[in-house]
Amino acid sequence: MKRVSLTQYLVEEQRLHQNIPAELRLLIEVVARACKTISHAVGKGALGDVMGSADTENIQGEVQKKLDIISNEILLEANEWGGHLAAMASEEMETVHQIPNRYPRGEYMLVFDPLDGSSNIDVNVSIGTIFSVLKAPEGMKEPSEAAFLQPGRQQVAAGYAIYGPQTVFVLTTGHGVNCFTLDRELGAWVLTHRNMRIPESTKEYAINASNARHWHAPVQRYVNEMLAGKTGPRGKDFNTRWIASMVADVHRIMSRGGIFMYPADMRDTSMPGKLRLMYEANPMAFIVEQAGGAATDGRQRIMDIQPHKLHQRVPVFLGSKEEVELVTSYHLQADAAG
Ligand code: AHG
Ligand code: MN
Ligand code: MN
Repeated sequence: MKRVSLTQYLVEEQRLHQNIPAELRLLIEVVARACKTISHAVGKGALGDVMGSADTENIQGEVQKKLDIISNEILLEANEWGGHLAAMASEEMETVHQIPNRYPRGEYMLVFDPLDGSSNIDVNVSIGTIFSVLKAPEGMKEPSEAAFLQPGRQQVAAGYAIYGPQTVFVLTTGHGVNCFTLDRELGAWVLTHRNMRIPESTKEYAINASNARHWHAPVQRYVNEMLAGKTGPRGKDFNTRWIASMVADVHRIMSRGGIFMYPADMRDTSMPGKLRLMYEANPMAFIVEQAGGAATDGRQRIMDIQPHKLHQRVPVFLGSKEEVELVTSYHLQADAAG
């Protein structure tokens, strides 16, 4: 079978839909190349100086792993020189990263979670990179934080790489979702899954159940009904999966369906869930919707949320449409009942 490379795919998409101009193509290729470099670092494991903690904290008060910092550096360096970006923002950096003056600036803004699933690095379980592409406001040369605060529906591209048994790169530019597998011998991304679709219904769900006692009533209700199995209101048995790497959980859902949840809970009302809107929820919501799934915060579509902070957190319910609609309806019913 003739192989289609990432470059060929991007060129042909542009011919078909005029949605990947040369600068955006460069951006996507550069991000994919950076993911290849990260994949290489990840693969070194204990043979490279990449495992363990860096003994520093990020802006969100989380202890950074060495690989969080290495991956962040790889993405910054790869994307600075190309002239395609106006600025970048990352989970691991407090403020917006401007393009150094020695390089030209472009019209796009790149947002990323350089290393998702950090707790899995040292135990050799799948981790990944998540990214989202926005357009800088017209004529803005040095975008401030405010320029990044655009609702997810304005993303022009989003994707993730997963460093697992296989390294894959999953991408949407608004016309479906495609998946590329890294040919490790050639160092090339090869199109392997065209137009990925999430099955509408499912029997698998992902949630960190150790937080069950803190969940709000609609989440308790939804999960309890699944736990009741065949003889419960859902009339079927369900299965739990929780990898603790959002990329890996989402990739499973992209491949065979399911629902992924990281709700807000009753512990700290100032912290609405754990996941970040700009780096995790929005790009994954875009991908999931483009694959026929749905993504809400329990009440509204994630991509319609107007961000008010770069590092904002948000509750996340995403995956197979029927399930996301059901758990969302439980929240809305509870709200209506007061
Ligand atoms: P990150 O490593 O970028 O901080 O993200 C970790 C996130 C997400 O990938 C995962 O779904 C979730 O945290 C796991 O949380 P728990 O440790 O609470 O299970
Ligand atoms: Mn993450
Ligand atoms: Mn991360």
